[in-house]
Amino acid sequence: MDITIRLAVADDRDYIASWTAGTFSWGDYIADALGDWLEQKRSAVIVAEVNGLAQGVGRIRMVSDSEAWSNAMRVHPDLRRAGIGTAVGEAMWQWAKEAGARVIRLAVEDWNDPARGQVTKAGFRPIGDWYWAQRGVGDSSPVPEGNGGQRVKGYEAIKPANSAEAEPALLSWSGGELARAAHGLFAIGWTWQRLTVSLLAEAAKQRMLWEGRPGWAYAAPFDDRFEVYWIETNPEDSRAMVRALVERAADSGSDTMRAMVPDVDWLIQAFRRAGFETGGITVFGLAL
Ligand SMILES: CC(C)(COP(=O)(O)OP(=O)(O)OC[C@H]1O[C@@H](n2cnc3c(N)ncnc32)[C@H](O)[C@@H]1OP(=O)(O)O)[C@@H](O)C(=O)NCCC(=O)NCCS
Repeated sequence: MDITIRLAVADDRDYIASWTAGTFSWGDYIADALGDWLEQKRSAVIVAEVNGLAQGVGRIRMVSDSEAWSNAMRVHPDLRRAGIGTAVGEAMWQWAKEAGARVIRLAVEDWNDPARGQVTKAGFRPIGDWYWAQRGVGDSSPVPEGNGGQRVKGYEAIKPANSAEAEPALLSWSGGELARAAHGLFAIGWTWQRLTVSLLAEAAKQRMLWEGRPGWAYAAPFDDRFEVYWIETNPEDSRAMVRALVERAADSGSDTMRAMVPDVDWLIQAFRRAGFETGGITVFGLAL
């Protein structure tokens, strides 16, 4: 099979949409996102052409001066296991190297054996287990406690933090179990990167850093979902922290709340006890 690698163009959208609509049980987001991705700086969308059509696609971008993030790898369902994913991957890893990356990372859900096989064969190593945790909030809440319409009395509120809080927050996290399990990473949506003081200070300026007695969080509403990117708390206060975040999510008018949680049992249990569904994810890394 002759495979030609090139950068994606806007005209690839409709054909890619035709074969990605059923990628997952819920569909796919690639075709809708492609237009925006093509506009982004320090990012590339690579396609593999077979017989003049884009039959494979993947996206790579720099998330800091030295860290690249890869996502959205897809191969036409009829053409899998023929080396197309490998060819797109190799072009992405080369792009990252030339852009100055020292590491490329990506995330794969636990059930996705083809993707896990592919990235392992490409030399990636697992660098951390995570869970997504999600539930409805406000009117969409599945549980009466913590927001089924009735407000919970006596919960411990968290409030927007000043940027001076960035350093103590990071210091508290860095020495603890959560940072160890996270390998120093945190996730904005589905994109993991190293957490720094300047990122937390920037979050504070945007009113996305929260503080309270149970801990700190980096969280914000995005579309209809309240996204929790990072949490610092401890076993005793974890349930109060999750409850405070659910309250914030409901206040923001979001329908759902989602958090990315490193694999630390007491924190995952705190989310589950608050009615969250969870699913496993592995973050993989390739040092360049
Ligand atoms: C994951 C995906 C991109 C792989 O693309 P592909 O073109 O089929 O991959 P390749 O042919 O280059 O395979 C490379 C290696 O990956 C592994 N692999 C690929 N498919 C596999 C499968 N179904 N089961 C186990 N291992 C698999 C194998 O090690 C394979 O090498 P081999 O064929 O020599 O044994 C493709 O299956 C896909 O589009 N899946 C749906 C979308 C998706 O889940 N994307 C990843 C999101 S994180």
